[in-house]
Amino acid sequence: MGAQLKNSKLKAPVPPRWRQEVERILITDAQLARRVKSLAREIEKDFLGREMVVVSLLSGTVMFLADLIRHLNLPMRMDFMGVSSYGLGTESGDLVFTKELRLDVKGRDVLLVDDILDTGKTMTRVLAKLQLLEPRRIKTCVLLDKPAHRQFDIEADFVGFEIPDFFVVGYGLDFAERYRNLPFVGVLHPHVYKEAIKRVL
Ligand code: PRP
Repeated sequence: MGAQLKNSKLKAPVPPRWRQEVERILITDAQLARRVKSLAREIEKDFLGREMVVVSLLSGTVMFLADLIRHLNLPMRMDFMGVSSYGLGTESGDLVFTKELRLDVKGRDVLLVDDILDTGKTMTRVLAKLQLLEPRRIKTCVLLDKPAHRQFDIEADFVGFEIPDFFVVGYGLDFAERYRNLPFVGVLHPHVYKEAIKRVL
């Protein structure tokens, strides 16, 4: 299970540049750094020094992956799969594979990394696709677990944080490809996505 978010009274303020769009900071950069480091320790213990192939899903994992792997003291190779599930809104839409794996994972230990487990559709579909390649085993790791809308019977093996049902952006996570560069995980103001949805309807 992921770390629970404490209800801290000392809320980190949203930097002025982002106040119009980001309601509040849910996970600070310091909390992220601490948890990612401890997550790396958990993964190391599980892989017992065996070489792993890290399969990371584009594009939301960019920051998480970069921070996680620098704390993983294990031999590894790394590859990416392109998969996109969100349509224009905040609901999961159809799944599209935009980049296939290049490394051969047959007989290998795979660590599948994603930024967020929401309905579970992406992880379920990707796991099914990876299983066909006959790896020795696959372990899954997500930064955020948002169980509120789960539609598929799936849990990740390693979870950074379990979060409530908010639309979150930052630290790699986007809304319409924006906000990935925020160094924290923040809650998007509902007016941002309500206005965006109105524009496409
Ligand atoms: C997001 C996120 C996960 C997936 C989770 O991907 O990165 O991969 O949705 O949702 P699910 O559990 O409901 O399937 P998105 O399509 O937004 O692509 P991105 O990583 O490029 O942001």
